[in-house]
Order: sequence, then structure tokens, then C-alpha cells
Amino acid sequence: MMNITSSSSDFYLVEGGKRLKGSVRVSGSKNASLPIIFATLLTSESCTVQEAPNLLDVRNALSLLEYLGAESYRVGENLYIKAERLKSHETPHHIVRKMRASILSMGPLLVRFGEAVVAMPGGCSIGLRPVDQHIKLFERAGARVSIKHGYIYLKADKLKPIEFDFDLVTVTGTENALLLLSAVEGRSILRNVAIEPEVLDLIEVLRKMGAEIELWDRTIEIRGTPNLTGFSHRVIPDRIEAGTFMVASLITGGDIVLENIRLEHLGSVCGKLEECGGVIEKIGSNRVRVYRKGAYIHPTNIQTQEYPGFPTDMQAQFMSLLSLANGVSEITENIFENRFQHVAELSRMGADIKIHGRTAVVRGVEKISGAEVFSTDLRASAGLVLAGLVAEGRTTIRDIYHLDRGYEFIDKKLRKLGASIERLTEHED
Ligand code: EPU
Repeated sequence: MMNITSSSSDFYLVEGGKRLKGSVRVSGSKNASLPIIFATLLTSESCTVQEAPNLLDVRNALSLLEYLGAESYRVGENLYIKAERLKSHETPHHIVRKMRASILSMGPLLVRFGEAVVAMPGGCSIGLRPVDQHIKLFERAGARVSIKHGYIYLKADKLKPIEFDFDLVTVTGTENALLLLSAVEGRSILRNVAIEPEVLDLIEVLRKMGAEIELWDRTIEIRGTPNLTGFSHRVIPDRIEAGTFMVASLITGGDIVLENIRLEHLGSVCGKLEECGGVIEKIGSNRVRVYRKGAYIHPTNIQTQEYPGFPTDMQAQFMSLLSLANGVSEITENIFENRFQHVAELSRMGADIKIHGRTAVVRGVEKISGAEVFSTDLRASAGLVLAGLVAEGRTTIRDIYHLDRGYEFIDKKLRKLGASIERLTEHED
């Protein structure tokens, strides 16, 4: 088993100025893998998750499964999981605090035990991130829910199929509903659901497990069954990793080929890249060439939205790109209330960005310069790495455990494309 340790004193040292060239393979999607890993808890049969990235979040999810009594092992890019005999219906705070997606264990534990105790995920650096929709849905399906001492307690003698309208579009909320209701006998209807590719990948898995699921507009119909079976599934490529490398090519004036990519998941991102002067050429069924057409990066305006709109998870990376555009851009963050923490760090590198409420006004500058910067969340950190690739001189990026949560071997992949980036550990005297 491959092991990547993540020390909080690790940092990246990036020497800017290299144009990226060559090809790189995109890993399986983090945000698709996590709910699929939790789906394995719905059955006692063996499950295979192919192309599950070897990331901190995935390893934390597997630690949680192990704590609950499931067995898992990795061979290369495949995970083999069997949750035959679960021994606990409680998820401890020390694991949940590292990974919000642990809340996806609620449904499977309730189905297997008739009760579940799940540590309540707190807010995080990008916003408050409440779970009111999850709780409302579980109550509607017949669970008695109480919140005490930071834990959500759920109990249900009998779960029932439901019709449920989400008050807002939530990715994990939709996934939690799918996991629960696929195991509940009868017909459920969900409205105003998230339709991110990661949600659709989970639907594919639940169908393989025996649930009948239809999706149209933002409505899902589920015919659940208590007899869900094992499955084998290849996770979709990570669209956010792909998008991050696309921006890396444009920002450095590079010319790269991405392998294992599903362009149909990247419509809004490609649209914006083209407005900024990028060329995206499909050169095979899952290979794409990305390069910059001219000498300049053009400004553009971005509004983050639910899929198929522009993803919030690409906002920070575009902020770095547009910091170097020849004009003024506006970026509005509509999904999370506090996802502009990278702005302070980019400003230290010489970017000219002003925040007005939910909108950042980015005045392109000719160049930025290397500095010591701090990662605040996963995608903010990716934005800082991109900025480091073009900054004059050296950029030191600290607190990179955030990056370990969501990018598989980002330094190795960037080095393969010709970037100068090193992972180092601070040694205290
Ligand atoms: N919300 C509520 N109540 C709820 C649920 C959500 O108010 O019960 C709010 C949230 O606070 C937020 C908005 O609704 O303002 C959307 O949140 P959503 O539930 O869709 O986000 P999530 O499921 O917690 C997933 C991804 C995020 C990604 C968002 C948006 C996973 C594990 N996480 O989070 O990914 O940003 O969807 O697309 O799938 C990342 O990978 O870096 C990351 C943060």
C-alpha cells in the first residue's frame, strides 16, 4: 500500500517562470469517491472502487470504515471494501473533524443498525456549512433526530419512502438522501436536487447495487430495496483536478495534454478558459490539449453556481489566472460565504484584488512576485500553487496538508510537466 505522510510542517517551494509542457493523467475524483466509499456500508457484500485517488480525505474515510468494522485494502488504484460485520454505529469526532463527508455515514448506519450517532461536522474555513437539510430529510423518512454534545443521534424503528423538496441545492445533502432512500423499500421522490457529475456517479453505483433510480430536471425518483448488493465501479475522473491543470497551462503560457478527462463535465470551466485566451482541443476520447492562443490572458467575469454553472471549487484557481489578465475581472462567489481567503495571500504576491461583499474585483497586473504564503483551504492552496508557477522568484506555500486532502501527487505531476516545485519539511532546531 502506497503511503503518503502529511506533516503539518511540510511546505512547497515553487520557483516561478517555467512554461508547462508534456502530458499528465488526471486521477479519479475525490468528491465522487467519498460517497461511493460510504455506499459500501449499505451492503455486507464485497465492493470494488476503481481509480479511487490515494488522498488524505479518502484515507480518512477508510479509517472511519475500519473503525466501524469494515475491511478494506488497496491494490494500486483499486480499493476493495467489505462491510460484512459492522461493530459500531458511532462515528467519532476525531475522524469527522478531519473530513466533513463523514456525515455520509448517517444513512448506511441507520439502515444497518436502526440507530446512528454521527459527530456533527462544524463550520470550516470556507463558511458555516449547516446540515439542516440533511436532518430535515432524515426526520421526514421516519428517523428521530436529536443533537447533543456535538453529535447527531438518529433512531428509527421503521424508515419510510418520502417525497422531499430541498430548500436549496446541496451536493452532500442529495448524496445523503440517495444513500438512505436507496435502502428503503418503496418509491421516493426528491426535488431541487444537485446534479453534479459526482452525484450522478453515485447514482450509477446505487443502480449497480439494485436500487432503481431515475433523474430528470432536478428531480430524482428512487425505488429502494433493503437487499442492496456489492458492486464494482470505476470512479469518474476528477474534474476539478483537470480544471486546475488547465489553468496551470494557461497561466504559464504552456502547452499540455491531459489524459483521463471527461470534457463534458467541464463545460463552464472550458467556456471561461476560452474567454481568457485558452485553446482546448479534444485529441482523443479522453485526451485534451490545452494551451494559450496569444501573449495575454484576457479578463472575464465569473459567477460561481451549482452544476452545470461555474464550480466554486475552481474559483480560487481562476482568481490567480485573472490576477495576471490584461484588464479588470469580477468574480462573485455565490455558494460559500467565506471563500476569498486566498485573496490576502495573492495580494502579498502583488495581485490587485478588492473584495466588495460576495464579489472580488481583480485588476490584472503584469507580474506577481514570490512570497511566503499560507494555505487556508484545499482550493485556495491550489490557487497559490498556480500563482507560484508564474511568480518572479520563489514562493513558499505553507500548511499544504490542505492540498494533500484533494490533489494526488500534485508536485510530482507538475514536475513531470516541467515545473520547479519541491516538497520540503521544516526541521526545528
Ligand atoms: N447548505 C445548507 N444547508 C445544508 C446543506 C448545505 O445551508 O443542509 C449550504 C452550504 O452551507 C453551502 C451550500 O448550501 O453554502 C452548498 O453546500 P453543499 O452541501 O452543496 O456543499 P457540500 O456538499 O458540503 C460539496 C463538495 C465541496 C464543493 C461543494 C459545492 C464534497 C465532499 N464536497 O460540498 O467540495 O465545494 O459541494 O460544489 O463533495 C472541495 O472539494 O474543495 C469542496 C469544498
